[in-house]
Amino acid sequence: MKLRMALTERLGMALPIIGAPMAGVAHGALARSVTEGGGLGMIGVGSADRAELISREAAVASDGGRLPYGIGLMAWALEDRPELLDETAAARPTLVSVSFGSPGPYVEVLHAAGILVASQVHDRAGAIAATDAGVDIVIAQGTDAGGHTGTVGTLPLLQVVLDAVDVPVVAAGGIATARGLAAVLAAGAAGAWVGTCLLACPEARTKPEARAKVLAAGETDTILTRVFDVAQGIGWPEGFAGRALRNRFTDAWHGRETELAADAGARRHLAQAREADDFDTAYIYAGQGVGLVRRSLPAAQVVRDLGEGAASLLAERLDALLGDEPRPR
Ligand SMILES: Cc1cc2nc3c(=O)[nH]c(=O)nc-3n(C[C@H](O)[C@H](O)[C@H](O)COP(=O)(O)O)c2cc1C
Repeated sequence: MKLRMALTERLGMALPIIGAPMAGVAHGALARSVTEGGGLGMIGVGSADRAELISREAAVASDGGRLPYGIGLMAWALEDRPELLDETAAARPTLVSVSFGSPGPYVEVLHAAGILVASQVHDRAGAIAATDAGVDIVIAQGTDAGGHTGTVGTLPLLQVVLDAVDVPVVAAGGIATARGLAAVLAAGAAGAWVGTCLLACPEARTKPEARAKVLAAGETDTILTRVFDVAQGIGWPEGFAGRALRNRFTDAWHGRETELAADAGARRHLAQAREADDFDTAYIYAGQGVGLVRRSLPAAQVVRDLGEGAASLLAERLDALLGDEPRPR
């Protein structure tokens, strides 16, 4: 089945679903499965990832150049690591996102390589700044989202951003079932950008112990916190915390970040827990939609279920709401 929209035509997708770039989790295999399901899969590049990861995983995502895919970068990390941008431009993906900081300095070089540019935004001012910088697609990333994000919920943010800019707006944060996709499409989003609902897929690089916790977690089990960044000394800009599953480490340290920064023992404890895959202490970034993730299905199947389910829901709802009334134009 196809859901035809300007965005799907532009990105060569059958369904308006983009698999979010997730550093350490969304590499080539996950991106490829999302694309094979009819969406567009993206590779997440972390601030400490080696540049070679990009060409290696791009070859997997594109199945040797056969399939479209995207790459997600973090603006703040590019300041010190320009090689990540060079390697990304050289790979020539269909789409590159530059988020968490200004995309401005990077748009021209990506456009010159024939690549469309997206950026995740978190308020009206950010949406306007991103379009002024020349991005082709704005991603309204609500605080419901897994990973690093802002503080405004997906639905109010989407409404604000749709009214503020003229480029296609894609909704991100908390979209984990067909109902969520149908809701944002009905509101005017050009598509959905989904991460959490892919965490349990076999193609995701989620560790088995973390996958079990994702499948068991409910919608109230996440927290937006800086503790994992503080404990690892990662230079995330102010204003961006990460949404993760609550665990013993967040229970002990959330709200005590200054103390944590000075506590070498706690920082070592987190590093050891990460080595040991002990997720009672180590982090699992996940959004509020985690409560809707109940099975480990291939990503292509998750994408098809989202897209086909949303199409049926939209048609059913319109029939139920309007009955025999003429469709308003
Ligand atoms: C485990 C994880 C890692 C993430 N890593 C990145 C990243 O490297 N770059 C990025 O731009 N966004 C990253 N995000 C945010 C996603 O791009 C996206 O906004 C989010 O997953 C959408 O909300 P959802 O998780 O509710 O679907 C990450 C999200 C998760 C869950």
